[in-house]
Amino acid sequence: MPRMTVNERPIEFDLDPRMPLLFALREAMNLTGTKACGGSGGGGDCGGACMVLVDGVALRSCRITLAEAEGRIITTIEGLSADRSHPVQQAMVAQAAIQCGYCTPGIVISAAALLQRNPAPTREDIEAAIPNICRCGVYPRLIRAVEQAGRVAQRRESISAAPAPGISAEDAAKAVPALRVVKSE
Ligand code: FES
Ligand code: FES
Repeated sequence: MPRMTVNERPIEFDLDPRMPLLFALREAMNLTGTKACGGSGGGGDCGGACMVLVDGVALRSCRITLAEAEGRIITTIEGLSADRSHPVQQAMVAQAAIQCGYCTPGIVISAAALLQRNPAPTREDIEAAIPNICRCGVYPRLIRAVEQAGRVAQRRESISAAPAPGISAEDAAKAVPALRVVKSE
């Protein structure tokens, strides 16, 4: 059974190893921040609402099987920060770069990965790193948000904190039969 670390928890999935990681995260772990745009195998044309960090690299979870994720470190939007304090999260709110919000988790994950490797990206860098198709058209504000997040990450600017989430990911998650927490030895 595929084992991996998800949001710092060692996990073993009692699921078909051919299942897309996206479905395991959403349906077995109740980590519904990672969005699905539909299509066969979970993959569609949204450009990356399903983005997660795999060993620090932003990848589309609809295109990775559990078998391919074996042994990897997975970070979903719920694990990016415990209190929405990641600079990208703060800047997205500050710049009002969210409308319906469906594409937002994937964008935040892609932007976080970009800033990790390039804290001062150009507009072209940002456009290249964020392939998401946002039907609400937040692109101009999104660019400003990522630029601001870069300045915040470099401590050249600060943003007032956004409100804490109304419910924690732990509280939201219920015991599910297809999920086991692996005890460290
Ligand atoms: S769900 Fe993966 S690209 Fe849309
Ligand atoms: S904010 Fe609605 S699809 Fe992007």
